[in-house]
Amino acid sequence: MPKKLVILGAQWGDEGKGKIVDLLSEKFDVSVRYQGGSNAGHTVVIDGVKYIMHLLPTGILHPHNIGVIAQGMVVDLKALKEEIEDIEAKGNKIPHKLYISDRAHVVMPYHKLLDKLFEKKNGVGTTLRGIGPAYMFKFMRKGIRMVDLFDQRMFEKKVEENIEFVKDIAEKVFGERFEIDTRYIEEEVIKPFEFLKDRIIDTAKFLRENSKSVIFEGAQGTLLDIDMGTYPYVTSSNSSALGLANGTGLSPKYFKDAQIYGVAKAYLTRVGGGPFPTEVHGEEAEKLREKGGEYGATTGRPRRVGWLDLVALKHAVDVNALDGIILTKLDVLDGYPEIKVCVAYEYNGKIYKDFPASLEVLENCKPVYETLPGWKGSTKGLTDISKLPPNARRYLEFIENYIGVPIVMLSTGPQRHEYLFL
Ligand code: IMP
Repeated sequence: MPKKLVILGAQWGDEGKGKIVDLLSEKFDVSVRYQGGSNAGHTVVIDGVKYIMHLLPTGILHPHNIGVIAQGMVVDLKALKEEIEDIEAKGNKIPHKLYISDRAHVVMPYHKLLDKLFEKKNGVGTTLRGIGPAYMFKFMRKGIRMVDLFDQRMFEKKVEENIEFVKDIAEKVFGERFEIDTRYIEEEVIKPFEFLKDRIIDTAKFLRENSKSVIFEGAQGTLLDIDMGTYPYVTSSNSSALGLANGTGLSPKYFKDAQIYGVAKAYLTRVGGGPFPTEVHGEEAEKLREKGGEYGATTGRPRRVGWLDLVALKHAVDVNALDGIILTKLDVLDGYPEIKVCVAYEYNGKIYKDFPASLEVLENCKPVYETLPGWKGSTKGLTDISKLPPNARRYLEFIENYIGVPIVMLSTGPQRHEYLFL
């Protein structure tokens, strides 16, 4: 195992990162989340008990592992407190081994309200967790950081200014009355802060000084990255490897010996709006959605589904300089007589093999498919590579040949033990 390992999404999120990080983080002392917030929902099943991690790094579920919520995250303190309480109710102790960055921004109740208002016009299909507005305030230099909560006067002044600003947007842009009861801020922010304040430190310094073995857990996925994804149908952070340095406060030099793996499903899903060239509809979609249990872990929304898109996956390999792919949910394709894989896009008579920046191209291109034979046997729960059906192996080889990096691991079910290394 490398001393620094990065596991991130190679598609539009929901690739099954939670289970992979849980499995791999056992060997690490520290695990770090560095971008996003409670929009994430990383699912882990341990001894039949299901955990959905929204803000905490998944590795923290291992008793020895210290968890870090780094500065690039936007943190809903009430959601974090509830997440900790939920995990503790399942018998796992958290607070004494969690650190939260003093530079991380706080998701305020009015950010969630703005998320709802903006959605009326934008139709991005956000998780409504206030993520975009929290980052918007950060970059407008109006955000509230964890450190500000230690200074009551400064906090109150900033909140007052922010509320005036939000009121203006709500009333003048959206024509909606806006009132916020300050008791609400007390419940949603101040009380959870009192519960968590001992854990707030300079996490960049902590990581510089405690870097023996660290696993970094990306949230969302490369195609949702604010710069490299399907803009504007993206999340508001760098959810690819580009977010590592600014999200942790560590120099890019720190990551020079890190290994980076992308998690990808054997097919493709996305939640929310935006282009999806290989999307399928109707009965074909129903079948894939039901077989794959494709409903959002955070919002419960049915996910859009489609065939594996190698143009997009190669983009993720290149953007992140991936050392390899961890492929999940191959078993969902068990029993399909034929499997389609997208190898290029066609738009206006032109063939695209590189993932285009243009939304117009992404929205209106036609996928060019190769059709591969399916397999009859089951790959569910497989732990022995010699039992992999030959056509399943051919499918994996086809992917590897196209993207130019190996598939290093297969996840074959939701339980911890259901995987195999290739
Ligand atoms: P936001 O991150 O809530 O602003 O949502 C922006 C876009 O990212 C929407 O399309 C969401 O559905 C998507 N998104 C955000 N978080 C996740 C995630 O953890 N998994 C999958 N999609 C996500």
